Amino acid sequence: MNPQEFLEKVKTLREEALAAFASAASADELEGARVRYLGSKGALGETSRLMGKLDKQERPEAGKALNELREMISSAFAGAGERLASAPEDGEMLDVTLPGRRVPVGSTHLITRTSREICAIFEKMGLTITEGPEVETDYYNFEALNFPKDHPSRDMQQSLFLEEGLLLRTHTSGVQIRTMEKTRPPVWIVVPGKTYRRDDDLTHSPMFNQIEGLVVDRGITMADLKGVLSEFARKFFSESTKIRLRPSFFPFTEPSAEVDIACVSCGGRGCRICKGSGWLEVLGCGMVDPALYAYVGYEREDVSGFAFGIGVDRMAMLKYRLDYIGRFYSGDTRCLRQFPG
Ligand code: PHE
Repeated sequence: MNPQEFLEKVKTLREEALAAFASAASADELEGARVRYLGSKGALGETSRLMGKLDKQERPEAGKALNELREMISSAFAGAGERLASAPEDGEMLDVTLPGRRVPVGSTHLITRTSREICAIFEKMGLTITEGPEVETDYYNFEALNFPKDHPSRDMQQSLFLEEGLLLRTHTSGVQIRTMEKTRPPVWIVVPGKTYRRDDDLTHSPMFNQIEGLVVDRGITMADLKGVLSEFARKFFSESTKIRLRPSFFPFTEPSAEVDIACVSCGGRGCRICKGSGWLEVLGCGMVDPALYAYVGYEREDVSGFAFGIGVDRMAMLKYRLDYIGRFYSGDTRCLRQFPG
């Protein structure tokens, strides 16, 4: 054997071995190739034994070529191992034409969106967003709002108490007191937030959302209240939406009223949604009872005011025609996904 032939053999072996490792498609195939080329009885060993047939002075060059070959084959083997480790399992095909998996992207919840929309309408009228705590004291939720202790008017609030004197607020009205305590008039605020009552049916959830409004300033009358709420109904539903005020009672407003809007479904003719009356009850309101001013140190101020409380869930149900309040809070998002915000 002459050196030329030896180097030729090395070259052929290199090409064969590299191709075998590059094309190994499974761990078994790779192992087969390893045995064939790097194993104790493999081609590499066989070739190195051929060195003995060369003349002594020809061996250094041949040895160098052989060492290079060993290094190349070993690293091709290692590379093929890595490639297989990160590749799909045997038999699993990678179909590059498949569309990618869509990552679900969240969006603003319908209630959040409705609440922001309502606040934005009042902000344009000059009211400023204010917030208050969801865990409230008896004092702010009831007492300073003129609910006497043991008075039956507390019953309609279906309260969830945490301990004596501390409850999950039943309405956002406590923020009226908290704000007036801290600021001199004029006060023009709108208060979005979560509220809680022991209520659970098709249109009531133990947790729901309200938006409180409070305006206390010089010369505020019930005409201002009606004007502000009419404008709100027109902006929130449609320009032609009509409202009506019905006498009602709240301990912290005098006089008090419930506000109805002409039914969004039939426009006032009477249908199933409005139970034939043509009107839908949507919020409570009234003129601030001057009794509250004594609690917040306004008794000497020459002011008057109005307040209102809007049920956000009810507004959203009417606007988006949902039949069941639970759709807002259930883990089944099929309904809400129709309204990406
Ligand atoms: N807080 C009352 C309720 O939740 C609503 C209301 C707010 C009424 C402000 C009058 C004035 O029932």
